[in-house]
Amino acid sequence: MKITVEAGKTLLVDGPASVTLVSGKAEVFGYALRHMGKVVIRDGKRMPFAVEETATFEISIGETANMEEIEGHTIPPSWDEAYKELKTLQTKPVTALVLGTVDSGKTSFCTYLVNKLLNEERKIAILDGDLGQSDIGPPCTVAYAVVSNPVTDLFNLEAENAFFVGVTSPSKATEKVISGLALLRDEVLRRNPDYVVVNTDGWVEGEDAVNYKAQLIEKINPNIIFYIQQNEKLTPLLSMLKNFKTLKIDSPQTIKQRSREKRRSLRELGYIKYLKNAKVQSIPISWLKIESDEFIGLNKSFGMMKRDREICELLGMKPLHIAELKEKIYVVIGKGRWIDPERISKTEETLGKKVVVTWKGEEEGLLTALYNDERRFLGIGVLREVDYGRKVMKIYTPTSSNISAVAIGKVRLDKNLREITITSEESGKVISDSLASS
Ligand SMILES: Nc1ncnc2c1ncn2[C@@H]1O[C@H](COP(=O)(O)OP(=O)(O)O)[C@@H](O)[C@H]1O
Ligand SMILES: [Mg+2]
Repeated sequence: MKITVEAGKTLLVDGPASVTLVSGKAEVFGYALRHMGKVVIRDGKRMPFAVEETATFEISIGETANMEEIEGHTIPPSWDEAYKELKTLQTKPVTALVLGTVDSGKTSFCTYLVNKLLNEERKIAILDGDLGQSDIGPPCTVAYAVVSNPVTDLFNLEAENAFFVGVTSPSKATEKVISGLALLRDEVLRRNPDYVVVNTDGWVEGEDAVNYKAQLIEKINPNIIFYIQQNEKLTPLLSMLKNFKTLKIDSPQTIKQRSREKRRSLRELGYIKYLKNAKVQSIPISWLKIESDEFIGLNKSFGMMKRDREICELLGMKPLHIAELKEKIYVVIGKGRWIDPERISKTEETLGKKVVVTWKGEEEGLLTALYNDERRFLGIGVLREVDYGRKVMKIYTPTSSNISAVAIGKVRLDKNLREITITSEESGKVISDSLASS
């Protein structure tokens, strides 16, 4: 369908849709569209096409998609002021960090800044710290990209490197997120950019969130913090940031809030993107460094050590695998097998550690990340099986070479790459995760 919009108006299009500018002049988040370049809007996203000179668009729109013409612009003037403020800073690089709640416009503001700065022909890197709604890397990672062309959606950028956290919400992995971001930031700096734009997750409310964000900001040490203040949600956090230069920016009036389901389906687009052309690879465990508590020691031959024998005797059976940590012992047993609960209590008492039993097959669907021997991120995969007998890991992934380390996450995907909601024993965690609004 073709539609013509007059100068001074904005066409708001909700995905899934695609829009091509046929004639006239229009901008999306500070990016002046080229004629005949197709802009794809994902399901759950909205894009504002601000018309500068009467424009005709060719639009194809999905069933659930929607569009609307409104007067004026939807980019708040404070976004432009933020950009101008950024240009006055004289350090190299200038690091700008963006704070805001979920769905406040963080990603869109980052997109706008990047596009504006690109007009100045500056070298720009974007570091994406929002693991639940990641724009750059796969979901459950933090990642960065160097931007050389304007973009309508940061999702179209190629990640240069990523750090796998393995969960969708930072609340359960605060240290990992911070250390991952610091590691990537150091790598970004070696590329000598003029500007580094750091996006963050939307977990900002409550004491834990405030402490976490304050630590993260200390570590990143930005030259300026842009915060999107809707109501007073950021106030406690801002009171911790007295040593930093901060600038308040507005949340657009026309923002589109997303339900938890929409956020999940946006993540699923991320899994699909990063698992394209995947197939099941059988990787010998002996080749791999495995980063996961439950699976530590997977590549040493189990059952030979005195300690292993002691545990087996206490349990009254020989499990497929035992991973002993400081406070816990993970035990993997065959499907349909059983350990006498009294034996477990006895073991826990004798060894002074909690025994956590899992069954073979429970590893199926866990999201994993693959790294090379320099710990460069190669891609994600879905763990299909740990074959304890043949000592191989079967991972569904498009990555096939140079795999030397595997990190195993806590998110589980089904065969259609949909996130499986964790129930029963973990429901407490799901509730706290939803508070942390992944
Ligand atoms: N100025 C704007 N005009 C219209 N829609 C916008 C604008 N800014 C953001 N949106 C839309 O609102 C939704 C939420 O914005 P987003 O930048 O993704 O927020 P966050 O990253 O904080 O979750 C997105 O679909 C986005 O495209
Ligand atoms: Mg975002």
